[in-house]
This record gives sequence, C-alpha cells and structure tokens, in this order.
Amino acid sequence: MRVVAVQDYRALSVAGADAIAEVIGAKPSAAVAVATGNTPLGAYDELAGRHRRGELPTARLRVFQLDDYVGVRPDDPRSLYGWMKRAFVDPLGVPPERVVRLAGDAADPEAACAAYAQAVRGAGGLDLAILGLGLNGHLGFNEPPCDASAPTRVVTLTEESVASSAGYWGSREVVPTRGVTAGMDLLLAARRILLLVSGASKREILRRALLEPPTGALPASHLQRAADVVVLADRAALSEELSGGTLES
Ligand code: PGA
Repeated sequence: MRVVAVQDYRALSVAGADAIAEVIGAKPSAAVAVATGNTPLGAYDELAGRHRRGELPTARLRVFQLDDYVGVRPDDPRSLYGWMKRAFVDPLGVPPERVVRLAGDAADPEAACAAYAQAVRGAGGLDLAILGLGLNGHLGFNEPPCDASAPTRVVTLTEESVASSAGYWGSREVVPTRGVTAGMDLLLAARRILLLVSGASKREILRRALLEPPTGALPASHLQRAADVVVLADRAALSEELSGGTLES
C-alpha cells in the first residue's frame, strides 16, 4: 500500500486524475469501478477537462457502477447512477453502452447483483476501483460489519450512511434504507485500488483503517490485504502517523 499525501483538495483532485489517467493510458479498455460521493468530484472534473482537450481517450473504457439505492430508478436524479452519469460518464464521453449498471431498481435486486458480478468477471475483473471512504469505514455500500469476501449484494444501510445522505435527499426520513453494492470480493481483487480521502472528518477513520488490524467492523481496513492500493489523502485527512507519506505493507 502506498499513502500519498497532498496539500489540499485541489492537489488531491489533480493527483487523483493523474492516477486514473495513468491506468487508462496503459489500458484504454480498462474496467473501472467509479465511486460517487463528493470526494472524487474534483478529480472527475479534472479528467473531463483533459478529455475535452483530447488528452484522455475514453471510447473503449468500461465503467462499472459501484453502488446505488434499492428501488430508485436510474433516471431519478437522486440515484447514484444519475450521479455517476452526471459526474463521470457524460463529461468524460464514455459511450453509454460501455457502462454496467448495478440496478437497485430491478424487480429482483439480488438477481441484478448476480448479473453485475458476472459482468465484472466477464470483463476479467476490475483494472481499477476508484473508492471513497465512508465516515463509518464503508467502501461503496459495504457497510460494517463486512467480510473481505462479501459478495455483490443487497445491504441495509447503517444509520450513519442514511444520515450522511440526508442532505442529498432533503431529509433523513426519505433516504432509502437499503442499497446494492459491488462486493468487497470484487473490489479487493481489483488490479489497482485508488482510495481518495479528504478533510479532517475522515482523519480518524482513515488512521484506524490503515493502521489497526483488519476487521469486518471497519470494511476499509481490508484494504491492508489488497495487492495494489494507492491512498491519496490531503493533509487534513492524515493523522500524524500517516502524514510521512509511504506505508509499506
Ligand atoms: P464522500 O463519501 O466522498 O461524500 O465523503 C464517501 C463515502 O461515503 O463513500
């Protein structure tokens, strides 16, 4: 695992874009799982600029949705699919037919999860998983507790995740209580994982995820056992133990 410390959110966005562009540059048909949330938005914006300037070919990219709410249609602006489409797929010019949804609105969401996992395997696994870190240590909607082998599945959202989505939904009462998520199994098997972390609110959970023994109670701690992880974090998100930069494991 490499922990890369950057000064602030702007630097995180540029370094995040560089890390993503490096994977796409090496393999234009890369299979990439794309996180929503606020943290990666600056990096996606930076990539969109590079795409507009003709510096980032995306016609062959394969995009995999990371997570969504159960029972929310993709054309609902509050769906995470909609968020991913607005923030990544459209501005980067990814052809819609090269996007694999994780269909939380399906009549049978478990079957949709199985189909998604099959699609990831059919693509030969993920080349890159772009992830954010939840305040409760989740990756995607892999909510605690969660094993490293947890499959793509329907999950019950924790109170913490519901609360942190309340602003986005308008109020806590209307936030869906169930989600679908790419499995921890598929994410940890990605050939590269890029974890983007910003801000003091994430400092303690990031410290515990990287420095304490891996535990299902903190899903992101399973990253310690993944093959190729780059953690990009700004100074505010880094505790003193981590701010040195490189953590060899
Ligand atoms: P954030 O969300 O980027 O909006 O902080 C991260 C997450 O909950 O996964």
